[in-house]
Amino acid sequence: MSAMKLSSATPLQPRRRAVLIGSAKGLGAAMARRLAREGYSLALIDRDAALLNQVCAEINAASPEPLALAYPHDVTEYAEVPALLQKLMIDLGGLDLLIYIAGSLLPTTPTTYEFDKDLKMMEINALGALAWFNAVAPIFQTLGCGQIVGISSVAADRGRVGNPGYNASKAALSTYLEALRNRLSRFGVHVLTVKPGFMDTDMLKSSPRTFWVVSPEQAADDIFKALKTRKQTIYTLGRWGLIMWIIKHLPSVIFRRLSF
Ligand SMILES: NC(=O)c1ccc[n+]([C@@H]2O[C@H](COP(=O)([O-])OP(=O)(O)OC[C@H]3O[C@@H](n4cnc5c(N)ncnc54)[C@H](OP(=O)(O)O)[C@@H]3O)[C@@H](O)[C@H]2O)c1
Repeated sequence: MSAMKLSSATPLQPRRRAVLIGSAKGLGAAMARRLAREGYSLALIDRDAALLNQVCAEINAASPEPLALAYPHDVTEYAEVPALLQKLMIDLGGLDLLIYIAGSLLPTTPTTYEFDKDLKMMEINALGALAWFNAVAPIFQTLGCGQIVGISSVAADRGRVGNPGYNASKAALSTYLEALRNRLSRFGVHVLTVKPGFMDTDMLKSSPRTFWVVSPEQAADDIFKALKTRKQTIYTLGRWGLIMWIIKHLPSVIFRRLSF
């Protein structure tokens, strides 16, 4: 964990504070750079300490004062979360935004069944998120403010032949976020579900067919706009919203014959 200190917010220089879980590369690192440009103080979390330190160093070098601190953590170490959240809130001087980005897509084929892979994806994509949401939700509920974001996927919208474990983990995450939104919106807390299609990151390397690929920077821009306008759910690219609406409404008798 970093020994560096961030400059405190003052009434004349208010500073928003965010924690990004899964921010050593890909969308998480792009989101960290985006929020740093907006002047946020950042607690960056991921399991690869060296990569995380590089992202922090790059952000801090580009700013007149340090904005980012690194907190190496594996999201499957659920028991560490409450103390880690408390520590980073002290370091940041509070918290306005939590984004759960960490994810895993383990390749499989339509005819193989591997519990160990499904378990890993459930743990990283869904259970790790629940550990963080359960820790932060009561804090934001008591404060009557705050923003929570979960990075789900278009894969959450329908069970498909390609990767049932990934589909199910993202569906669990999406449903949990919806329930959280329904609980917390009455307390003034904003909960955003993000459903990317394809993003040009390391994760995409295991996907056989891709199209409408966006850069992680473009997805981070879309998420930042959705945070500002307090959207409930966004697709990135936006056109996936229409495609997935059609796919969600396809009768099962047709959908199960498709290889999509
Ligand atoms: N790329 C796409 O096309 C796409 C599409 C739809 C949704 N998404 C979702 O978008 C999110 C960001 O993905 P990405 O494309 O940016 O992928 P990425 O580049 O692979 O980034 C995922 C990050 O999560 C970290 N992570 C994985 N397991 C972890 C663990 N146990 N503890 C802590 N950190 C862990 C990864 O670290 P390691 O490198 O060590 O694993 C990595 O830094 C994911 O939730 C993904 O499911 C991606």
